[in-house]
Amino acid sequence: MRLPSPLYLLALATAAMACNPVRRDIDGSETFIIGTDGPAPAATLGFAFNHIGLVTTHLDEMKAFYGDILGMRLLFDAHITPEYTVTYMGYAQGGRNGTGFQSGAELAAAKNNLWGLLELQQFNVSDDRLVASTERTNTFGHVGLVVPDIAEAEEWFRSRGVKILKSVTEPLEEYTGAVPNAFGLGEFAGLHLAAKKALIDAQGLIGLDRFLMIADPDGNLVEIQQQDT
Ligand SMILES: *[C@@H]1O[C@H](CO)[C@@H](O)[C@H](O)[C@H]1NC(C)=O
Ligand SMILES: *[C@@H]1O[C@H](CO)[C@@H](O)[C@H](O)[C@H]1NC(C)=O
Repeated sequence: MRLPSPLYLLALATAAMACNPVRRDIDGSETFIIGTDGPAPAATLGFAFNHIGLVTTHLDEMKAFYGDILGMRLLFDAHITPEYTVTYMGYAQGGRNGTGFQSGAELAAAKNNLWGLLELQQFNVSDDRLVASTERTNTFGHVGLVVPDIAEAEEWFRSRGVKILKSVTEPLEEYTGAVPNAFGLGEFAGLHLAAKKALIDAQGLIGLDRFLMIADPDGNLVEIQQQDT
């Protein structure tokens, strides 16, 4: 048998470092299939994911939650009409270690060069009932954060009275309810139970057993994962 070339081994090791986790096997099948896309179309060069938008009817509570508890800073409230407000929030982008703080004005000035912002949209006369991701499966799944110490983050949320939907120390046990709703498992408890249970049984494959799950005041699922060191 020919030995693999050192270059090939280096390429494998590099690929393994770039994608963590690369792949874990279950019953001999490949669960993680790492993408092999080449460069994107030149026309998309520089495209970046700038924000997600959440529609709310509780703008003040949502700002307090994402600001005081999750630590995002207010870029601006845009009172576009007397009834319609667009609010932008985001993490100060100077680094995850608390240095390099940028003020709301600096963040707002850089708005279209930042990643991972949150937009809140409120039509303050809306009669529409909003359906939260934790209430019923819809096209929105969750907001995802990474934090330096997930156990400390959980303590912080508990101290602020945030309802913990799933502790970092406890795997997901329910296959119906808030988190499964937001994960697309749907609300009809009697149907497809075996298929739902299979996902719960397989949760370790994607590290779901070690995620922390909370909900914002509107009931949107917020999923928190541990940063890589
Ligand atoms: C904190 O992060 C910033 C930005 O990434 C970096 O320049 C700085 O050296 C870091 N400071 C410490 C104390 O790690
Ligand atoms: C929404 O409208 C109510 C009633 O006019 C008002 O009291 C409240 O301050 C408004 N909230 C926001 C966030 O604009």
